[in-house]
Amino acid sequence: MRRLLVTSALPYANGHIHIGHLVEYLQTDIWVRFQKLRGRRCVYICADDTHGTAIMIRARQEDLGEEELIARMKSAHVADFKAFDIEFDHYGSTNSPATRGFCGQIWAALRKGDFIEEKEVTQLYDAQAGTFLADRFVKGTCPKCKAPDQYGDSCDRCGAHYSPTDLIDPVSTLSNTAPEVRKADHLFVNIEKLHGFLDEWTQGGEHLQPEVANYLKGHFLGEPLRDWDVSRPAPYFGFEIPDSPGNYWYVWFDAPIGYIGSTAEWCEKHGERFDDWWRSPETEIHHFIGKDITYFHTLFWPAMLKAAGFSLPERVHIHGFLTVDGEKMSKSKGTFILASTYLKDLDPAYLRYYYASKLTSRMDDIDLNFDEFIAKVNADMVGNVVNLASRTARFAGRTGLSAEYPDDGGLFEKAAADGGAIAGAYEKGDYARAMRIIMAAGDRANQYVEQQAPWNLAKDPAQADRLRDVCTVGLNLFRQLAVYLAPVLPRLARQTGELLGEPIASWDQSQKPLLGTAVNKFEHLMQRVDPKRVEAMVVASRTPDEEEGPESVPFDNDAALLAEPLAAEISFDEFARVDLRVARIVAAEDVPGAKKLLRLTLGLGGENRRNVFAGIKGVYEPADLVGRLVICVANLAPRKMKFGVSEGMIVASGGGGGEVYLLSPDSGAKPGQRVH
Ligand code: MSP
Ligand code: ZN
Repeated sequence: MRRLLVTSALPYANGHIHIGHLVEYLQTDIWVRFQKLRGRRCVYICADDTHGTAIMIRARQEDLGEEELIARMKSAHVADFKAFDIEFDHYGSTNSPATRGFCGQIWAALRKGDFIEEKEVTQLYDAQAGTFLADRFVKGTCPKCKAPDQYGDSCDRCGAHYSPTDLIDPVSTLSNTAPEVRKADHLFVNIEKLHGFLDEWTQGGEHLQPEVANYLKGHFLGEPLRDWDVSRPAPYFGFEIPDSPGNYWYVWFDAPIGYIGSTAEWCEKHGERFDDWWRSPETEIHHFIGKDITYFHTLFWPAMLKAAGFSLPERVHIHGFLTVDGEKMSKSKGTFILASTYLKDLDPAYLRYYYASKLTSRMDDIDLNFDEFIAKVNADMVGNVVNLASRTARFAGRTGLSAEYPDDGGLFEKAAADGGAIAGAYEKGDYARAMRIIMAAGDRANQYVEQQAPWNLAKDPAQADRLRDVCTVGLNLFRQLAVYLAPVLPRLARQTGELLGEPIASWDQSQKPLLGTAVNKFEHLMQRVDPKRVEAMVVASRTPDEEEGPESVPFDNDAALLAEPLAAEISFDEFARVDLRVARIVAAEDVPGAKKLLRLTLGLGGENRRNVFAGIKGVYEPADLVGRLVICVANLAPRKMKFGVSEGMIVASGGGGGEVYLLSPDSGAKPGQRVH
């Protein structure tokens, strides 16, 4: 049987686990638990990511040794994960002999394959702090739009990407002094040599979600891949490169190797052969990560594995980012909520279920809305699932379950037949769909209990058999849901096992009713969410922005500069402000003297007409455009151009170089209709 090796991204040791991280660790934990419940051999590996400038700085700020800092952080992370029922088979650290050993192995393979090149790099150096500065530790004026107070990698105002040495009047955020420009030799991996392989691996097979494959094709694979800078000069907290004294592997070089190192520790502990897990076609490797670290896991990482002869991931599952009430988590709003803060007020099962109900196989961001959170958990968990047990278990406690399964009008069979669809949805990562199917089964079961009204039957001793039958049905339908929900709600599954005297350990238990056994004392399974506690949690999370303290040390993500984020995140409200409309092109004409422009008259329904200049000359013939439906941005401020005023914009895709594809709605759309 094929083995599964599953990982989540290794959390940085410079900060605590928060509810954004938990999207990923819960998503992965649910998948792993599902696989185990289905009887598959599956091992879940993770570790702390401990190296880099950010850790070094935080250690200094807290006046601790780095080793001490990462040891403390690791126990805090492990405790948070455990409290949320996230169950790793092994949780290691990148700062381990095993990871160091594999770094050496992969490095030797890269040298041998002639992938490593040395090049001089100009970097900013903080003489007072005695360290080179990662991009996020430098601030200054944007070289492009002149906005003050911008980070060393990109400008918040105009979105320009640049190198920190381009900043005007740069200042080190560590010492508030002006940094020096220093040169140092760095080691680079020439991954362009593996361009052909990466084309094939990213675009063929099903290793990536389609939107990710397209993103890589559009942003990186269309041109030569840039060399990857993988060394940092001392001082740096990390592993020194054996054949380049005074230089250290950059944190993103050793971080993913931590997956391998941590697996090797697990193998050692359990008497497993390492090669069965990282060098065997019998093992499927699945990485779960967030979209911000796509580049590292879909280009660099497969390239390193390929060059060094390890197995490639079968699939990289990429999720979006968490927003809270439509916005980025914010310390001042109290929505930057630490796992440990959440736990003081709320049951972890709530968040496990809520995230499950929102996660799909796509990379979309997911939003935590507190009103929805309260309503959903109370309705689905308490009002639907748990309600089934609480309305029947009391009575069945006296009689046990009937010896034969009573006629339930086909309810058990129907829910058993849903098992295939539910499993398929879990497998694909579409937990939202799995939850919908499960809740529908719960609704049907509750209707049954409602109709049979066991509380009335209980009043009449002559109805004792009937009562036992009704409770036997109710509890079996409940147990079926508990099996289906076991990956999401392991505690509920355990309690259900205790109630009915048979632990839930396998998916197949959803297919056959439990009969003739005793029913134990009913313990309360889950409380309703108390909105006051949600509010208390938000209040406890509120910190004024200026008092952020060491938590705000930015991540050592300077290679993210290369990664060019998928798109800058915007809130739903920001998106909603863009008024996209269906429009019909009612006239199109050449603009004499313009190189690229055509003048279009757009009809937006009724008398509403717009004059728009579009850069599509030479790509589309004006005559072919007339009558066509397009999408236009209807609330763009009018712009005065050389040839007249443009009162909007039409939407097209294209990679430049003359490539333009106008977007059109399906036929049937009406001019003036809003696009959502
Ligand atoms: N240390 C790197 C990963 C190295 S993997 C070889 C890192 N650490 S992290 O702590 O910043 O993030 C860990 C994971 O949590 C990443 O996959 C990241 O995408 C995810 N998330 C962190 N904040 C998140 C949200 N707000 N929302 C969803 N996921 C988030 O990156
Ligand atoms: Zn700018």
